[in-house]
Amino acid sequence: MGGHGTTELDLRPAAGHIGAEIVGVDLAGPLDPGTVQAIRAALHRWKVLFFRGQNLDHAAHVAFARRFGALVPPQSRGTASPADFPYIETTADRRELAGRFGQERADWLDRRRHTALRGWHSDLTARIDPPAATVLRAEDVPPYGGDTTWSNLAAAYAGMSEPLRRFADGLWTEHRHGVGYLALAGEDPYLRKLQDHPVVSVHPLVRVHPETGERLLFVNGYYIERVVGVSRIESRPLMELFMEQATRPEYTVRFRWEPGSVAFWDNRATIHLAPSDTEHLDAPRIMHRVLLAGEVPVGVDGSASQAVAGEPLAQRD
Ligand SMILES: [Fe+2]
Repeated sequence: MGGHGTTELDLRPAAGHIGAEIVGVDLAGPLDPGTVQAIRAALHRWKVLFFRGQNLDHAAHVAFARRFGALVPPQSRGTASPADFPYIETTADRRELAGRFGQERADWLDRRRHTALRGWHSDLTARIDPPAATVLRAEDVPPYGGDTTWSNLAAAYAGMSEPLRRFADGLWTEHRHGVGYLALAGEDPYLRKLQDHPVVSVHPLVRVHPETGERLLFVNGYYIERVVGVSRIESRPLMELFMEQATRPEYTVRFRWEPGSVAFWDNRATIHLAPSDTEHLDAPRIMHRVLLAGEVPVGVDGSASQAVAGEPLAQRD
């Protein structure tokens, strides 16, 4: 940081461990290399960056993300996504998904939510090469509700006791699409989708960040089925212990979206909480997401994650 050619940013930290707003940078404009370098350094330091009042269209959104690496196409785009921009995934009114799997959306969600911590996730970690970063932009949001919260997984790791860190360093976890889904009796289209297209990877519980070298408590409630190499009875309290650690309020920051807001997060060093407090509101929430290509995670001992099922994201391009 502060290296030769890096531009000074107007950076305003938003919480003690994570999150900073960057003021005075027009993401739609031509960014000089020094500014790109400064944003990258700020991302490594603060894990999630916020920009307000931006005027990005789809092309400018994609162009901004490309300044930081290769992109990966979304794995399954909803009907709201723009046909001409394959790297943009749009989530519009979530009710558009109602009936998609032969059941009401609320029922489907209820069948997926096996734990209150389930909403916490990194994007697409069932893949062998989860995205390195995500750039999410708000087009239209409710007047209240729908905030996103992130947690710093480097701080969560550093905040554990030394004996627990050493224990965690040697653990591996199975990440899987559709963890904990309670199937319908009889024909269940969603269960069949999970069975016909399984996506499973084994990742280190403690991941070494490829750019900062930090150790990360690489845990989430959305994709992790179990800790491998221990019994199911042992796995459950271990997951509770590590999830509770990863989501401690002091490691988090919460962001209130406005139209034109952009959040740019390191998808390796954070988990985020998908909001669920807007479903009763009769207001649109239209968000556009672009994913940056990631690498295969590496654990403390230098060994890499193992693919069990499903293709790497990078090869789907
Ligand atoms: Fe997400």
